[in-house]
Amino acid sequence: MADAPQGTWTIMEVLRWTTDYFQEKGVSEPRASAEVLLAHSLNLTRLDLYLRYDQPLTPEELARFKDLVVRRRAGEPVAYIVGHKEFWSLDFLMTPAVLIPRPETETLIDAVLQVFKQTTENKKQKTENWCLEVGIGSGAIIIALARELPRTRWVGVDISAPALMVAQENARRHEVAERIFFLRANLLAALHPGPRFNLMVANLPYVPRPVWEELPKDIKEFEPREALLGGEDGLDLIRPLVQAAPGILQPGGWLALEVADGQAPKVAELVEQTGEFEQIEKIPDYLGVKRVIRARRREG
Ligand SMILES: C[S@@+](CC[C@H](N)C(=O)[O-])C[C@H]1O[C@@H](n2cnc3c(N)ncnc32)[C@H](O)[C@@H]1O
Repeated sequence: MADAPQGTWTIMEVLRWTTDYFQEKGVSEPRASAEVLLAHSLNLTRLDLYLRYDQPLTPEELARFKDLVVRRRAGEPVAYIVGHKEFWSLDFLMTPAVLIPRPETETLIDAVLQVFKQTTENKKQKTENWCLEVGIGSGAIIIALARELPRTRWVGVDISAPALMVAQENARRHEVAERIFFLRANLLAALHPGPRFNLMVANLPYVPRPVWEELPKDIKEFEPREALLGGEDGLDLIRPLVQAAPGILQPGGWLALEVADGQAPKVAELVEQTGEFEQIEKIPDYLGVKRVIRARRREG
């Protein structure tokens, strides 16, 4: 960074220089990265940067910002550097213990709300709806759904103790902690068998090993491997979860699983093979990738 900004630089000059620098070094989303990091280091919003474009940075501000630029240049994701990330219009605390929620995961939220919102808004129903998420990570999915579905109670499972702590803090910040029971477990191992849940959602690690080997440095070296890698074909965790799903879902209960690009036919087949589900659908994300498998446990 020998040619990095020295002396007096305005916000706009720093933004331009950093964007070019990131671009040259192959950093993904160079402009957005520069904006988010500069806004964070100056304790401003991204919009403020444009409203104060000719404001000069103090030497201390410049030094602080350079530290962040060095970290991003080394591949560290912006969400870990700034410590938070937006998902479903909610702000989530992020640490390197958790996967950074992806925009395509909002497809899973939509897919659940399409079928489940009516169920939970049925005022005649006296009993509460019990829902389960396996692999909660930061809590992005479980918290978004708990907020959208006020008449639900949740069990959130993750194998990672540090991830559970992040999810608990996020649930507290978004005022749904009292409706979520957090459980450290391997898939469903800690749950008593019995059809108690009206809904089970999961975005489990599903990246096949050969794909994982080729992932960009930002992901492979910084995000938790146990949140990404799903074995040789990516289905090491999804397979047993689908097998076990009929045993814990009530008749009429819903299953919704996020899958990788190309996995939908195989996962839909696994769900079909249990012989316990109907209305099995492959739901596309905003790019047209079949991203979610949704199915309903048969009533009879
Ligand atoms: C792809 S991340 C999803 C995180 C979050 N739900 C999201 O969508 O952003 C998968 C999560 O599953 C957890 N996980 C991995 N193996 C597991 C297992 N055997 N049992 C329970 N959770 C597991 C990981 O720790 C990680 O938090």
